[in-house]
Amino acid sequence: MASGRLSVVVTRRLPEVVETRLTELFDVRLREDDRPMSRDELLQAVREADILVPTLMDRIDSTLIAQAGDQLRLIANYGAGVDHIDVNTARQRGILVSNTPGVLTDDTADMTMALILAVTRRIPEGLAVMQSGKWQGWSPTAFLGGRVSGRRLGILGMGRIGQAVARRAKAFGMQVHYHNRRRLRPETEEALEATYWESLDQMVARMDVLSINCPHTPATFHLMNARRLKLLKPTAVIVNTSRGEVIDENALTRMLQAGELAGAGLDVYEHGTEANPYLREMTNVVMLPHMGSATVEGRIEMGEKVIINIKTFADGHRPPDQVVP
Ligand code: DGY
Repeated sequence: MASGRLSVVVTRRLPEVVETRLTELFDVRLREDDRPMSRDELLQAVREADILVPTLMDRIDSTLIAQAGDQLRLIANYGAGVDHIDVNTARQRGILVSNTPGVLTDDTADMTMALILAVTRRIPEGLAVMQSGKWQGWSPTAFLGGRVSGRRLGILGMGRIGQAVARRAKAFGMQVHYHNRRRLRPETEEALEATYWESLDQMVARMDVLSINCPHTPATFHLMNARRLKLLKPTAVIVNTSRGEVIDENALTRMLQAGELAGAGLDVYEHGTEANPYLREMTNVVMLPHMGSATVEGRIEMGEKVIINIKTFADGHRPPDQVVP
């Protein structure tokens, strides 16, 4: 397939350097404003484009894919998570799906640590006092948080990001534990000094901090359900930089309201922008607007991955980051 003839529709504004490169290589339709596409706009895009470049804000479900034109050959997602794309239905229609793994690992792991520290060391409360101009000076008893070194961190999902969190946590003196579908190779476990728990329940019950780093799939939806959340110690903190759907958000909110958990650091929400409003009222909950991968470098590298995936496909090969259902 000649890359010059490929028509590419990008659903959001991307970093300028990425948009420029895309325009040089392909027949690209870029967005003028940066708002998510409406369903009608998405429908038009899948009826016209050879290649669609969506983000996690676009629901590429079976209904949409069923209405795509036969010209649509590749969905080159700008992002690592593909839970917004029905990859199975795409495959049945002969449409390939690719993503951008690897380039947002460190940034997301940094944000995980930032949330752990923000919650345990009460950083937003300190910031609020400074911003209010009401700080009375140093006090032996004010703003006391918990020490992270020596604490047990349980990582749920030990893929690239989970392992990057483990390396950072180790440097902070935390004891690293993990649960994963597959146990890591002994040499990797040893290098990370990470203890494997076959039973998620048993791990959850013993941790001081639990970090969610597994993707959202049908198998991980509400993996942290009300029953499992209750296993956490009342002094524990939970942090999620993966996908909101892995935690039953209402159950988590109820526990936080009842004082059954020490705090939470959340970058993602079960219902996206509609996070449970009670969470916003709690000083021991730090909420961010899905910023895990939000670095200039990361967002450019995600774009470069999208370009490589499209180019490789245009040259007649499988995209290097093809997602296999
Ligand atoms: C992804 O790529 O899936 C991330 O969640 C974006 O930050």
